[in-house]
This record gives sequence, structure tokens and C-alpha cells, in this order.
Amino acid sequence: MSVSGKKKGGEGDTNKVYIFDTTLRDGEQSPGFSMNLDEKLRMARQLELLGVDVIEAGFPVASEGDFNAVREIARTVKKPQIAALARADFNDIDRAWEAIADAAHPRLHTFMSSSDIHLKYQLKKSRRQVLKEATAAVAHARQYTDNVEFSPMDATRSDWDYLVELIQSVIEAGATTVNIPDTVGYAMPDEMGGLIGYLFEKVPNINDAVVSVHCHNDLGVAVANSIAGIKRGARQVECAVNGIGERAGNTSLEEIVMALETRKDIFGFHTGINTRHLYRTSRLLTDITGIPVQPNKAIVGANAFAHESGIHQDGLIKEKITYEIMTPESVGFTETHIVLGKHSGRHAVKERLKKMGYNLKDDELNKVFARFKEVADLKKEIFDEDLEEIISDIIFREPDKYKLLYLNVVSGNAAVPMAAVRMEVDGEVKQDAGFGVGPVDATFAAIKKITGTHHSLIKYAVNAITGGTDAQGVVTVQLGFNGRSVIGRGSDPDVLVATAKAYIHALNRLESLKNQNAGDADHSSL
Ligand code: KIV
Ligand code: ZN
Repeated sequence: MSVSGKKKGGEGDTNKVYIFDTTLRDGEQSPGFSMNLDEKLRMARQLELLGVDVIEAGFPVASEGDFNAVREIARTVKKPQIAALARADFNDIDRAWEAIADAAHPRLHTFMSSSDIHLKYQLKKSRRQVLKEATAAVAHARQYTDNVEFSPMDATRSDWDYLVELIQSVIEAGATTVNIPDTVGYAMPDEMGGLIGYLFEKVPNINDAVVSVHCHNDLGVAVANSIAGIKRGARQVECAVNGIGERAGNTSLEEIVMALETRKDIFGFHTGINTRHLYRTSRLLTDITGIPVQPNKAIVGANAFAHESGIHQDGLIKEKITYEIMTPESVGFTETHIVLGKHSGRHAVKERLKKMGYNLKDDELNKVFARFKEVADLKKEIFDEDLEEIISDIIFREPDKYKLLYLNVVSGNAAVPMAAVRMEVDGEVKQDAGFGVGPVDATFAAIKKITGTHHSLIKYAVNAITGGTDAQGVVTVQLGFNGRSVIGRGSDPDVLVATAKAYIHALNRLESLKNQNAGDADHSSL
């Protein structure tokens, strides 16, 4: 299973493309996507189910929180390799190793900039110095493990012949994967392919390592660039679920996987991904972060398999292949079906959840079932999406400082909107009332009074997760504090209750961010 130390593709399978997932590192460091330890673990388990080859779990030296999350993932997720990122610095590498030492398949990933732009303005180092330090860092990492990846940051804006020298040197020092990042998303597909081809031609020991590509999407061509790299010999792609990552994001995992899968006829490559888990993985990330994908997002967007045009629908009825290049089932989109209602019993709920991939413990099932009954009393039909929301809300929530106990809202065109709220704050019951220009504003005002919190409101959004006026409302609230932001989500058939839940969820996440921030280094060093 290891790609370390093997030629393109490893273990003799030259057509296998290894999927290196960086959702929890490059993705998680981008604004609004920060996750707590439980959320990272949940995501890592899903990535394992999906079948990724490598999970880059974080950047341990960046903070205590990052370190703990990487260590927990390394201890619990055993199938994929667990990579930890480190600057080409001995302390960083030591700390990264400490975090992944217990992993079944650990990988150290170290990086240093190679472009003259970065060397001159950021590192203030000469090319010789960088070559020496990067090589020493790789040799240092090799003392811990024989699975070492090196990335020359900003590779695509670096001098190609200098890259040849640098890569030759780090491979001599023991790098088993060399990753070529298009850090600022500047390259075009021909260039990216050209650079990978050049490295294969000029670096004498290139076949002693796996070549990888890591593309950013600033110009919208990250997936195309990754494909161009693979066509010229790269056998590892670094990517993230829903394409999240620094700025415009990274290569989207679901897009690159399905491009390789759907166009096997021209590429002839395969991955170890169980594509039927793609949709669920994407949904899990949006559930955790509260940031949805756009409806027209390839592969996992709500409209990705929706055919609106009459001509298309006519063709599809006659023969699916007329307008469908892959089936919704192949990526795990199932038909939305009415699964349950208020007469459904505990067993039916348990069975449905099992089919959806959730094997809950008895106490967890009890909580979910109690909530299911409440929702089913208000809403006739319970869809899979409703169950997903309940699961998210009940099972995967961090321990809360703030809890909603009661909300009563008065509004209408003949009353000043007013909300009365009762909450638990650190176990103590508190209540207050707030007025506002509308019921949402009043709900916010009451909660703000009780919690005495300071923050800015960046976003407030309401969505319905299924059709119909009895649909559960899903509210997203984004709060800003000291240049960082958090997202909270709440769902309920009553949008005002969903609003209160989302706001309180965001406040709880803000709390854990504040706690985590103590002693944190700055992610912006990446
Ligand atoms: O974009 C980049 O260069 C990176 C490296 C740390 C691999 O994320
Ligand atoms: Zn990156």
C-alpha cells in the first residue's frame, strides 16, 4: 500500500494514481474551514472509508490544536498513510514526527520555497542556502522514517534548472516523494505538464521517488493542471474535498477522481477511491463547516445530475447515455426518497441510518431517535437529508458552553418583534429578552444579551434542505473575531429556532477557537 520509495505509482502498478488528501491541512487553514478535533477525526474516518492513500492531517508545529488533532488521527485512522507537514526546519520536523509516530503508516512532508521571488522577498536566502537546508531537512526527516515527501514551494515560478538540482539533491538525501506545487495557481496546463516532463527528463534519479502535483485553483485550472502533470508522469495528486484550500482552493478531490475514472478510455489510470463515497464525503464537509458547495459544482453540486432542458430530459428517458456521462449512483447520489414518518419505530430509524453508513451506539441512537420523533411530529415525511441534519446536530457537536433551552418570538406587522430566550451558560440557566427590526434580529439581540459576546456578523443565510413548506430550515451564521471567523449551523422545521441554534453553535465554536488560540502559531507562514 505504500507509495514510499517506489517508482511512479509504486508496487509496480504504474497506472495507479495515488490520492493525497489535504482537506485537513491546506483546506482547513483557509478562512471559515477551521474544524475542532472531533470534526477532524470524523472527516479523517470518512476519508479512510473513501479510500484515499494519504491523509495530510495538519501542520503540528502551527498550534497545540493542530498537533493534538494530527496525533489523534495518527492513532485512530489506520488504513491510509498519515502525513504531517513541517517547514524544512529541524524543530518543525521533530514536532511533526512526535505527532505521527504512532501512525500505522506515517509520512513526513517537509517544504521550502524554491522560486527567486520567495527567496529574495520572503526567505532572504540564496539558492545555495535553500538547497543545503532543504537537503539537510530531508536527511533529518529520514532519521525518523523512510517515507519522506519534499515540496519546493512556488515550484511553478521557480527556475526549472534550479529545481532539477534541488530535486536531485533531496532525492539523494532520501525523499521518496517529490511534490511540485503550483502554490499561487499561476501555471497553465501545458506549462505544468511541461515542467513535470522536464523533471523526468533532467533529474537523473527521478525514478527513485514518486512525483506528485499540488495545484491551486486561482485561475480555475487546478484539476486540468493536475491531469497535465499525471499525463507526464506524476503519480500522486494532492487534492481536497470540495476543492477547499488556500484562497481559491486546491484541486478538487471528487473532480480529479471522476475525471480519471470517467475518461479511463483516454488516460488509462485508476485510483483506490470508492467513488460511491464521494457525495457523502462532500456532504460531511459541508455539514461540519456550514459552507455549502455551489449548486452547479461538478460531481457533488445539487444540480450536478439535474437535467432541466426538455430536449435533455427527452433524451434521458430514451437512453441515459444521451446526456449522462456518469451515473449519480456512481458518486453516491441516491434518489431522494421518503424514508420515514412519525409512525416509524426505533428499529426502522436504526436500519435506515445503517444504510446511510452510520452505525450508532445504543445511547447515540436513543438521542437521535428522540430528536427524530420531535421532527417527525412537526413534519410528515423524513428524508435522508433530514436524518443527516439530525445526526450532525446530535452526535457530532463539540461540548457546548452555551445551550438553548427555550425560545419564544413575537412578531408580525402590528408588534415590535421581540424574542425571549432561556439558555444554559456553563451549566447555569439564564434568560433575557431582546427587540429587533424583525424576529431574527430580536433573537440575535436576546442571545447576545445573555452571552455578552463580542464579534461581528459576517453572514446569515437560510436554506431549506428538502422541498415543501414543512422542510427543515438550515441556518448558517458566520461570526468574525480578531481576524478569524467561525461558522455555526442549526436546523429545525422552525427557522427561528434554527437561527438560535446556528447562532449558539457559532458562539460555541468561537469559544473553542479562543481557547485553541492560546499559544497558537500563525498559519500564514504557509
Ligand atoms: O501550496 C503549497 O505550496 C503548499 C505546500 C506546503 C505543499 O501547500
Ligand atoms: Zn497548497
